Amino acid sequence: MKRSEHVQRAWRALHAHQAKTRDTPIRERFATDPTRFARFSLRLDDLLFDYSKNRTTETTLGRLHDLADAVDLATEIRRMFDGAAINVTEDRPAFHVALRNRSERTMKVDGTDVMPQVREVLRRMGDFVARVHDGRWRGYTGRRVTDVVNIGIGGSNLGPSMASEALRPYWIDGLRPHYVANVDGAHLASTLADLDPATTLFCVASKTFTTQETLTNAQSARAWLVGGLGGHLAAVAQHFVALSRNAHEVEAFGIDPCNRFELWDWVGGRYSLWSAIGLSVALVIGMDNFQAMLSGAHDIDEHFRTTPWERNIPVTMALLGVWYTNFWGATSHVVLPYDQRLHRLPAYLQQADMESNGKSVGRDGRRVTHSTGPIVWGEPGTNSQHAFFQLLHQGTHLIPADFITFVEPHHTLAGHHTLLVANCLAQSEALMRGLSEDDVRTGLRAAGLDADEAARLAPHRSFDGNRPSNTLIFHRLDPRTLGRILALYEHKIFVQGVVWGINSFDQWGVELGKSLARTLISELEHTPTPGQHDASTNALVQHFRSHTGAPRT
Ligand code: F6P
Repeated sequence: MKRSEHVQRAWRALHAHQAKTRDTPIRERFATDPTRFARFSLRLDDLLFDYSKNRTTETTLGRLHDLADAVDLATEIRRMFDGAAINVTEDRPAFHVALRNRSERTMKVDGTDVMPQVREVLRRMGDFVARVHDGRWRGYTGRRVTDVVNIGIGGSNLGPSMASEALRPYWIDGLRPHYVANVDGAHLASTLADLDPATTLFCVASKTFTTQETLTNAQSARAWLVGGLGGHLAAVAQHFVALSRNAHEVEAFGIDPCNRFELWDWVGGRYSLWSAIGLSVALVIGMDNFQAMLSGAHDIDEHFRTTPWERNIPVTMALLGVWYTNFWGATSHVVLPYDQRLHRLPAYLQQADMESNGKSVGRDGRRVTHSTGPIVWGEPGTNSQHAFFQLLHQGTHLIPADFITFVEPHHTLAGHHTLLVANCLAQSEALMRGLSEDDVRTGLRAAGLDADEAARLAPHRSFDGNRPSNTLIFHRLDPRTLGRILALYEHKIFVQGVVWGINSFDQWGVELGKSLARTLISELEHTPTPGQHDASTNALVQHFRSHTGAPRT
């Protein structure tokens, strides 16, 4: 039987299974099976991954594992860890696992072990971090660095800024991180307003060093720095480092080649936190903590690489997502960290997931006929409960959720943490259990309402329930745990890409807008080319020009 026939058969079996099981709500499965939690939860060190509140039976998981076999997931995982060119449209590996390889294993690209280069960059990062911390590295006027500004966008911003926020309890005294991404000058201007050029270090994070937003911000930052330090261009060498693979452009920008930290073409932007792009994080939490984050990710890599599907957490997360996307029609997935420090995690995962799996053409170049990556969104609990949970509970969309929380907080404020965790557990319970109209009516009658009023209100106040979720509980949000969380999601995304037959590692979808913007810059500033755009875009250009004093055309 051909591979595609295997896949189709696995797909059909899942459709049939969905039709057979769809009318049994999750709460009923709990009621009839006291072992459900034990059978549908996994442990990995201190991590408890509970996926029992899903619309699944053992057969569902079995069929999903058949699908994983049919798409030859095991081979694809091996190819990723072997450094094969799995990014087929750019003909290169997606080898971020090498960046955090803590084992003695070689990690080869085109027959060459990349580990010596990876270790050398980590060594250089560690050396630089130590020099900034102990004051051997100083600003142009001899003062110590107090503020680190990372200038970068997309993967060169979202990972570092999210990780810095998440690991705030680990910040080194006397060093504050700042992140500037948006080309909107408001972002840079408001960041610089509170800073002193003499004590500010800029990390220009751009794999390509051609990204317009980043270069524009970096140029303005350089002008601010030089202007603030007596016009001495030589100051740039003490205040700018580059995290990039483009040596030529870095030098052309005026950054000392010795201040460039290398990365490689096999590091995808959204997978680059583990590389030199993470330098700002290493600076604020220290190199040991940065290395602990890499170790956490490596632990998950090993788990992912070596664990059978039944006990493999990222594979299970991925297949559950496939189950809802392709067999229940879910179009979005919500991530709910019950931890304020993870408030940027949903934004980070939006890029990780949607830039990876927002594709409608398969690896074979043909349009896919099934749904692919969901819309990923979220906000920390409990804030989100007072915002969009209404829709999760009573809306018409099926939205699978991930709840993430921790046993131990970093703060010592009495009562807060219990309240936070109670809310987290209550929400997943409420989503799954719901509340019947009968129960609502009984409650309202007991509260003194007459029968008619109780009947009128019951439909509004009842909950269907049967809304699926996973809960991930870790002991504490430390660097290793953050590394584990991110690697779990990275591998989840990879597995889904394999099942959907797409290339999760390119992002051509961002290119068209970028090139149109290049044309529009000159049209907004100079003369528009007649007939270049549609009527709407032409009119918008004219409107802008007429209000900025540019000559009408
Ligand atoms: O626009 C998409 C993208 O290429 C992302 O994938 C990447 O993370 C971001 O731009 C920034 O790219 P660079 O690090 O090269 O500036």
